[in-house]
Amino acid sequence: MSISFSQYCTAILVIILLGFVRSYIYKFLFIRDVTIQDYSFFGYHAAGSQGGDRCREINDMRRRKRVGDCSPPYPNCWYAVGESDQVKQGQIKEVYALGHELIVWRGYSDKIFVSGAYCPHLGAHIGTGGTVVGADCIRCPFHHWSFNGSTDGKVHHIPYTQGKVPDSVKLTMWTSTEASGSIWIWYHADKEEPSYYPRDLEQIRNGEWVCKATASNTVTCHFQEIPENAADVSHLNALHGDKVSPAFARRKSEPLPCLRWEFIRHVFSATWKKKEDPTRKHEYYFDGTHHIELFKKWKLFPRELHGRNVGPSQSFLHFDTIFGKAVLVITVTPQEPHLQLVTQKIYASRWFPQIIANIAMRTQQDQFQRDIGVWNRKMYIANPPLVKEDMHIKEFRRYMLQFYSKSSLPCQYKLKLEKGLLDF
Ligand code: FES
Ligand SMILES: [Fe+2]
Repeated sequence: MSISFSQYCTAILVIILLGFVRSYIYKFLFIRDVTIQDYSFFGYHAAGSQGGDRCREINDMRRRKRVGDCSPPYPNCWYAVGESDQVKQGQIKEVYALGHELIVWRGYSDKIFVSGAYCPHLGAHIGTGGTVVGADCIRCPFHHWSFNGSTDGKVHHIPYTQGKVPDSVKLTMWTSTEASGSIWIWYHADKEEPSYYPRDLEQIRNGEWVCKATASNTVTCHFQEIPENAADVSHLNALHGDKVSPAFARRKSEPLPCLRWEFIRHVFSATWKKKEDPTRKHEYYFDGTHHIELFKKWKLFPRELHGRNVGPSQSFLHFDTIFGKAVLVITVTPQEPHLQLVTQKIYASRWFPQIIANIAMRTQQDQFQRDIGVWNRKMYIANPPLVKEDMHIKEFRRYMLQFYSKSSLPCQYKLKLEKGLLDF
């Protein structure tokens, strides 16, 4: 029996269609990283609109950006530098954070270590070809010097020398810990010891909850802009109120997500509060409600929102679903003064349906891209004209002062501090 040309074309089309559906369904059901696209390009809709080179114009816009009278670039706090389950025993991972090339490694003792990436001998990057040796040591690929993470990075062994192993030569070690599925480093401009620790959620530590969905984005703004979003409750209905048709939410040519549906809206109410307890003054809380409003009349799916920040770089948003409880964990890590890496993860029981976790993360990403569009382009205003409803912003900025110390303050802040002009 011979196959006609049209049957042949139909068969090919069906195969392509099945392949597409299969890969899409597979991605939707089984891939936990749902980062949708590189949102670092959000907010640059005007670039290339006149036919010019889009990348060059975006770079020009970034160069022209007025950053404003910003706070110091790196608050004194813990920063997430990776996922615990991605650095197994004997593995090394390169990380770029706080303007430093770092390496994270796990010894065969199961301890995690973070150090500067450059070998103190002749400067090789240990992340490129280095090896974990023994319980806690790492070996440089260039001359095989090894360094012990447990003795503050001191040289442990030099295979070819008959002389003395220099005692003072060390890798630059960073204070590190693991909590809520992430690896953390402590930064303090005046080299002080940690004043608090990141929260280690019990359900994550004991394996009751696993990471069901993740997404990470880079944003070109100052660190403080991102946690300040929780205290800026007035922006919720303005920026996040429109319900956007998901199919049209991610056009690069629009300033912010487009094709807004008029008949349906998100409605938020929220309040922000910091802990007065002096032992927990690094924490703040965000409580609110959310529902969908239909034709300005009907209230659908009302739910409560409960957020908690432990330091400015670790946020938890707990939510209930018919499939059980889940939590969205957000971490913010500066790579450079105006370049932030934001990682979001949803943790829930391993029986929590993957598709629900993916839909939740995609919805979160659709909302988050609106903030990114604003952050990428905005400048920081140190003394903004605030109305009564904006007052949590003022409280948030006061809260942030505890994370800056003498050495972290740039000149204009030192001057203001001395003159008592830091009035927020
Ligand atoms: S540069 Fe690392 S051992 Fe020589
Ligand atoms: Fe927001």
